[in-house]
Amino acid sequence: MKHTILLMIFALLATVACNNSADTTEEGSSDTPMENAAPSPSGEASAANTVEIELQGNDQMQFDKNEIRVKAGQKVTLTLKHTGKMAKAAMGHNFVLLKQGTDMAAFAQQAIAAVDNEYIPEGDAAIVHTKLLGGGESDTITFDAPAAGTYDYICSFPGHYALMKGKFIVE
Ligand code: CO
Repeated sequence: MKHTILLMIFALLATVACNNSADTTEEGSSDTPMENAAPSPSGEASAANTVEIELQGNDQMQFDKNEIRVKAGQKVTLTLKHTGKMAKAAMGHNFVLLKQGTDMAAFAQQAIAAVDNEYIPEGDAAIVHTKLLGGGESDTITFDAPAAGTYDYICSFPGHYALMKGKFIVE
């Protein structure tokens, strides 16, 4: 009988000891989520908000892209490179981003008369534009992407817009 009672007491003590150690473990682990709840700094936002685009124009009166895609809210850095050899007066290239609703043919017609302003006519139809480039030259412009939508871009050098045009899409 004595042995049986002793065994029962040992069993009870063992159970209590196990419960205590289990409780301790749970309490310890419950502290961890609170430490993880601290706010983490995000350094990716600024990098994701900038986009770099290179557009090339050549001596065959062509852009190398007829579509450029950016996201609303992005800061756009666009570099136009004239990869040809011809002079600016003969094969000049620029990048002109037009406001939505602009009549491209009418704009290009006005641009011909704006020879003293690198073929950028008066008015606000051009959202942004680069300099007029000759072979081997490049120009970089930085601007905020306009509101979401589809815009036309052209080279406004006389006669070039028929071939040198594309869609600038803001998503
Ligand atoms: Co051109």
